[in-house]
Amino acid sequence: MLTLNVGPSKVTDKTKQDAKEACDKGILEISHRSEEFTRISKKAIEGLRKFYRIPKDYYIFYTSSATEAMELAIGNCCKKASFHFVDGNFSKQFKDVALRLNKQVDFDEVKWGKINDVKQAQIKKTVDHIAITHNATSTGAIFSMQDISYLRKKYPSQILTVDITSSAGVFPARIKEADIWFFSVQKGFGLPAGMGLIIVSPKAFQKSIKLEEQNLNQAGFFTFAKLQSKMEEKYQTPCTPNVFLIYLLAQKLERWNKRGGIQKNYQDCLEKYKLIEAEVSKNSKFKFFIKPKKAISYITPCIEADPKVLIKLHAIAKKNDLILGKGYGELKEKTFRIANFPSVKKSDIKKLVRLMNQA
Ligand SMILES: Cc1ncc(COP(=O)(O)O)c(C=O)c1O
Repeated sequence: MLTLNVGPSKVTDKTKQDAKEACDKGILEISHRSEEFTRISKKAIEGLRKFYRIPKDYYIFYTSSATEAMELAIGNCCKKASFHFVDGNFSKQFKDVALRLNKQVDFDEVKWGKINDVKQAQIKKTVDHIAITHNATSTGAIFSMQDISYLRKKYPSQILTVDITSSAGVFPARIKEADIWFFSVQKGFGLPAGMGLIIVSPKAFQKSIKLEEQNLNQAGFFTFAKLQSKMEEKYQTPCTPNVFLIYLLAQKLERWNKRGGIQKNYQDCLEKYKLIEAEVSKNSKFKFFIKPKKAISYITPCIEADPKVLIKLHAIAKKNDLILGKGYGELKEKTFRIANFPSVKKSDIKKLVRLMNQA
């Protein structure tokens, strides 16, 4: 069965081989304080640094999920007030995390199907943390790198955090242009669920330390300084990490870096997206849920159709050993989503397009 679900997403045969190897080589049983762990973890962290061209002075830490990374960003780096761009379910969740941590929360919210105009946002001077979700997985809306760069230039002193959970592995983020980036691995990275990564600028790191000194850091045990105390030199973690996923990540990044890195993944994604776009533009049964063309996600496009057409499409897909990503929440019956991730081949997308023609 082939899955085009947006997460957990398709796992390639190579990753399945890596998983078997992890079992066969006894990697599942190694100590997270061993030299072997350090070697594997270093390979994963340095592989990610190379893949995203992460500057040397930026920190990288493991998390258990993207949701935990939201808590780490707010807990470590927001003193008083957090501003959120809300255009879907997970940007709303990020805002809720800030509310639960008792921050003053301001936000710019648009109806599902639209995308915020970052230039129109009114962000007060008292705000010290800004959050943006790069790719809204629930609606298929995507911001551009220019939007993020605009925020960086306009608000240089605030901590700017970007959730790249559903665009990671594909979108060539310019890491210097924000303070915190995070994602989990079960989407674009095509790995089993259960781990996230957070990338932290020196400015965000120093702010976390300052808030700790003032007794205002709400990250609990997981302050950035605590994470770094284990990460530096030994690439370890304060608690027992997901060694299995760290191994799979290291292997995947080695392959990706050898074959052209993120630029290759990005170009492949655009090429596959063209097939989807061509089908949607000529097949009157389907349209993109997001209206402004420039905001349509090429990574997780969300496609709208009559619920009857979608029932038929899901049934045809199932018969052909294909699982489609259903719509999210209130969009469940009237949309479907496509994981145009690196693990999904051009032939997989061609198959989907053929089936859309039969629905
Ligand atoms: C954009 C975005 N952010 C955050 C999350 C939450 O990820 P996790 O389940 O790894 O915490 C998701 C999950 O779908 C997501 O799509």
